[in-house]
Amino acid sequence: MAEGLTQSHDPFAVSRLAPESAKRMVDLVNRTVAHETALKERIAIVRQGERLTERLSIGQDEGWFRPMLNDLLRQGISVVVNDIPISEAIAETVSRQTNLPAEWITQQNLYITPGKSQGFDPHCDPHVVAVAHLFGRKTWTIFEKTLDNPVYDADTSTIAGKGETLPVRTTVTVEPGDCFVIPRGVYHSAVALSPASVHLAIGVAGARPIDYIWAMAENAMHDSRLRADRTPEAALRDARDFVRGFAFEPVALPRFARVPAPADLNGDRFSFEDVLDALPSH
Ligand SMILES: [Fe+2]
Repeated sequence: MAEGLTQSHDPFAVSRLAPESAKRMVDLVNRTVAHETALKERIAIVRQGERLTERLSIGQDEGWFRPMLNDLLRQGISVVVNDIPISEAIAETVSRQTNLPAEWITQQNLYITPGKSQGFDPHCDPHVVAVAHLFGRKTWTIFEKTLDNPVYDADTSTIAGKGETLPVRTTVTVEPGDCFVIPRGVYHSAVALSPASVHLAIGVAGARPIDYIWAMAENAMHDSRLRADRTPEAALRDARDFVRGFAFEPVALPRFARVPAPADLNGDRFSFEDVLDALPSH
């Protein structure tokens, strides 16, 4: 297994997914969203960087996704479905495309974006993102700005400031079956071309030394002796003893369960292509 990330010469080069891999991804997405009861808590909606998810109210258990998707896209709102299951085949494909171990995949989220609209403000992600483009076209802007190995924490903003001007490094326009990699910490934004676009954003991250240190600190917080008032020397001695004696557990990879694609629901086969094909182009 690779010890670290191998950087290719052109980090934003677009590669093509094998047609059967792209088809498998589309099929997995359609089967997943067809199971609507399991979908409610995984949906997020956003318009031009503004998160609107708390305004969503989904009454019914079944039959709501298709009309809702249609409605939101017509209002220029992007729909995100988090935690699309990751199959063995998809993990292998992503690993091949990114040159990163399949075990490093952390999550797979679906983005459905209406034409001419930008779902998110320029931002960077605290992990490598493999983009698998499934429907329509989308232009990605990659900015010069980077953060050095960012993580999500209270002190770091991964979103560009409002009104901040970011020099553009390159743009990438992708179509169905295209795949490219956004390195960790590189700022980017994207605009869907009319009428809509769909892609999977697949997060890839190894284990990080800092995760162990955080886990240790969190563990220490639960130990009343380590929160006690002591002299500086006594406190230092106890802290050293704790660190020396701490039993680290290796991070278990992969973080996701490799699951078979959800069963096809007979009779009501969902197809995002049908919903998006019916949207007006403008
Ligand atoms: Fe991103």
